[in-house]
Amino acid sequence: MPSDAFVEKLNEQIGHEFAAHQQYIAIAVHYDAETLPRLAAFFYAQALEERNHAMMMVQYLVDQDVDATVPGVVAPQSEFDDVVTPVALALEQEKRVTQQINALAGVAREQGDYSSEQFMQWFIKEQIEEVATMSDLLRIVERARDNPLLAEEYLAREQLGEGGTDPTAPPVAGGAL
Ligand SMILES: [Fe+2]
Ligand SMILES: [Fe+2]
Repeated sequence: MPSDAFVEKLNEQIGHEFAAHQQYIAIAVHYDAETLPRLAAFFYAQALEERNHAMMMVQYLVDQDVDATVPGVVAPQSEFDDVVTPVALALEQEKRVTQQINALAGVAREQGDYSSEQFMQWFIKEQIEEVATMSDLLRIVERARDNPLLAEEYLAREQLGEGGTDPTAPPVAGGAL
């Protein structure tokens, strides 16, 4: 059985992952409306990853036979002044999630909950990749501030953040989308 303290924190994290999903959808829709389809596609895909993170956590709790609650989320930011602001917001979000994930691993360790500590290892690795990808994208859009089509061309050329399927990823409740 996972520790109560860990279960409580992981249920909170499910909410943070769904909030990240909503935020990335809002960013994708913003870029779509600005006719920047590559930036939109990047964030639609990123949103799906966040949704899958949440559902991996749901699956873990279900497998451990403890309560998984699906919390509501606060509305994401959906108005942006320029091409850079959404990516800066996304990078801040990924850094915040990294702290949350590390804190979760810390709670599991403190509680002597080794299964949960091991479960968090994949997310620790994932956060390193997501922060790195978003930092790269921020540099790209900063260079393209006055001409967003440069960012579009870059994304059309380079496979930014597309890692393909990861066989080490935890199972997703209901199957990965
Ligand atoms: Fe995530
Ligand atoms: Fe993320």
